[in-house]
Amino acid sequence: MQIFHSIAELRSYLRSQRQEGKTIGFVPTMGALHEGHLSLIEASKAQNDLTVCSIFVNPIQFNNPDDLSRYPRTLDADCAMLAPAGCDVVFAPSAEEMYGPAQTSDRSSLSSDGSNPSVAYAKPILKFDFGELERVMEGQFRPGHFNGVGIVVSKLFNIVQPDRTYFGQKDLQQVAVVRRMMIDLGFQIELHPCPTLREADGLAMSSRNRNLTAEERPLASHIFKGLTLAKSLLLSGTPPSEVKQEINLHFGKEPAFRLEYFEIVNAYTLQPIDSQAPEDQTALCIAAYLGKVRLIDNLVF
Ligand code: PAJ
Repeated sequence: MQIFHSIAELRSYLRSQRQEGKTIGFVPTMGALHEGHLSLIEASKAQNDLTVCSIFVNPIQFNNPDDLSRYPRTLDADCAMLAPAGCDVVFAPSAEEMYGPAQTSDRSSLSSDGSNPSVAYAKPILKFDFGELERVMEGQFRPGHFNGVGIVVSKLFNIVQPDRTYFGQKDLQQVAVVRRMMIDLGFQIELHPCPTLREADGLAMSSRNRNLTAEERPLASHIFKGLTLAKSLLLSGTPPSEVKQEINLHFGKEPAFRLEYFEIVNAYTLQPIDSQAPEDQTALCIAAYLGKVRLIDNLVF
């Protein structure tokens, strides 16, 4: 497995591989890898000659400096998982490598990267506006988040130039936003959304799970239980407004949680479903804090 920190070196390596006729699958990540990430690597390996995984904790998609500084950074352990999984190439750039060195006008960004105040980078001035797709859920509660995702993903696509890319349904809204961005910018890349991997108790695997305390971890399955409860209520004809009340009660019973949102939406448009008749591709989406850790999950049916 080859590890690159430099854009130029990665580009030149991938150019030579492409010239040999190899197809490239790409899995973008922020590291702190788990089985969920490895399932994307597996999906890519099954369809491509070469699999590239990027590991980059993208500072511009964090709207909360504490969340950014708490985000686990475990490059050595990540590479130790990726090599036996059959990943061919790891791309792990610094923020400066991705965005260029800080300009005088970026002085404010020095302190906003809570991970390491001495690391400076040029904040991109481009702004993505995903319209209705980002006025709900993650976009509503994490202003600027999808702008940061759009910028880093489009930049990574331009660097790697893959044939196919693999994203987890765990981040349903991210898939919708990236799908739309790829249409609007004309990327010639196949987007493959992949199913969410869960722990035995139903908790969706996430890099943030490792920030849960030993007391909090067993409580975390409450999220998946809430989603399955909501699904069975909807399928038995309970109106969406009543299902929402039930979910509020469900979280009210567990004081360690603070429910941020629970939405019943169309999985493609992400717009709320108010009518009783379930639509094709109904998605139930939750974001909740368990202690200091923000967790998200969804069910699509
Ligand atoms: P990250 O949270 O590291 O996730 C990387 C990819 O793994 C995403 O596509 C995510 O949906 C997927 N993933 C996470 N948990 C999963 C699970 N339990 N089962 C299956 N897939 C899972 O998402 C990001 O990073 C970033 O926003 C990124 C796209 C890399 C841009 O910075």
